[in-house]
Amino acid sequence: MINIIYSAMISEAKISSAIKELFDNIEFTKEPAGLYDPLRYMIAIGGKRIRPTLCLTTYGLYKDDLTEEILQPAAALEVFHSFTLIHDDIMDKSPLRRGVPTVWVKWKEDTAILSGDVMSIDSYKRIANAPAFALKDVLKLFSTTAAEVCDGQQYDMDFENVQQVPMEEYMNMIGLKTGVLIACAAKMGALIAGASAEDCENLYQYGYHLGLAFQVADDYLDAYGDVKVFGKPIGGDIINNKKCWLTTFALENGSEQDKKAIFDALDMPVETQEQKDAKVSAVMSIYEKLGVKDAALKEIEKLNEKALDYAKKLSVGEEGFEILSAFAKKLVGRTK
Ligand code: IPE
Ligand code: IPE
Ligand code: MG
Ligand code: MG
Ligand code: MG
Repeated sequence: MINIIYSAMISEAKISSAIKELFDNIEFTKEPAGLYDPLRYMIAIGGKRIRPTLCLTTYGLYKDDLTEEILQPAAALEVFHSFTLIHDDIMDKSPLRRGVPTVWVKWKEDTAILSGDVMSIDSYKRIANAPAFALKDVLKLFSTTAAEVCDGQQYDMDFENVQQVPMEEYMNMIGLKTGVLIACAAKMGALIAGASAEDCENLYQYGYHLGLAFQVADDYLDAYGDVKVFGKPIGGDIINNKKCWLTTFALENGSEQDKKAIFDALDMPVETQEQKDAKVSAVMSIYEKLGVKDAALKEIEKLNEKALDYAKKLSVGEEGFEILSAFAKKLVGRTK
């Protein structure tokens, strides 16, 4: 067997220092401060920055020069993602994000709407830095993805008013709200590196399945995480009757009696802190009875395996596969 050395690959350490430098020095328009301060706040408080990291990681499978042509499109993914979070926190009535007050709480809803809008536009300015040979494909991918995230967020809200959502529809919804942007990040890095169409498509699927695993993990952590690490309120999905993987699974696998108990628990009032705590513990005791916690962990593992099946099809050798496998492992084992 021929042992090919893929010398172009960029190390994880180099990518993480490039990400740090990129966001430490990122510039936004200064005035009016009322519009741009929330934006700077969101970017400065950080987050895991997995989307730009993934974009640089897939790019780094093929090339080793980190210029503005890849760095700015990678930044666009994070700016766009942060915009969706600002609006999502209004929609989900969430007071805490990345361990600090959400934009609509710290400023007000009107500010959160407009600052979010301008972030979405800022992300397109950064996309324009993609190299000319890839720009058309990158723009098409990014715009399609952005619209799909909105589709997913609408289904997410529609589902708040439906008693039970079939698992298949739930997975489709999280694929749209979360999967496609992670898929887009993985594919965009490869497009800008000039990878083959086949590799680009397999990286898209790798990212998509990783994104599904990531959202199931987010749903899991919403119930079983630690607020200090997760940076978001625990039990928020239950309190606000958000559909999540855990309730969807419980409703599909419980008896008629279990189902009734879940519906009753979800109808509980949430005006006071005591009422919120009582509702969360009522729902979680049904989860416990039905083994929902372990089932979620198994599902995350299964989706992760599926993502890796696509990574195996790439033309990047063993070393490239190891890089993608390490990235997936970090995401799936996350606690925040
Ligand atoms: C939160 O995304 C929204 C989901 C898609 C689950 P992240 O978990 O990537 O949030 P940050 O950017 O690290 O704060
Ligand atoms: C968020 O899903 C997906 C997007 C922001 C597009 P969630 O509503 O579960 O995300 P968190 O838990 O608020 O981060
Ligand atoms: Mg949401
Ligand atoms: Mg939310
Ligand atoms: Mg969540």
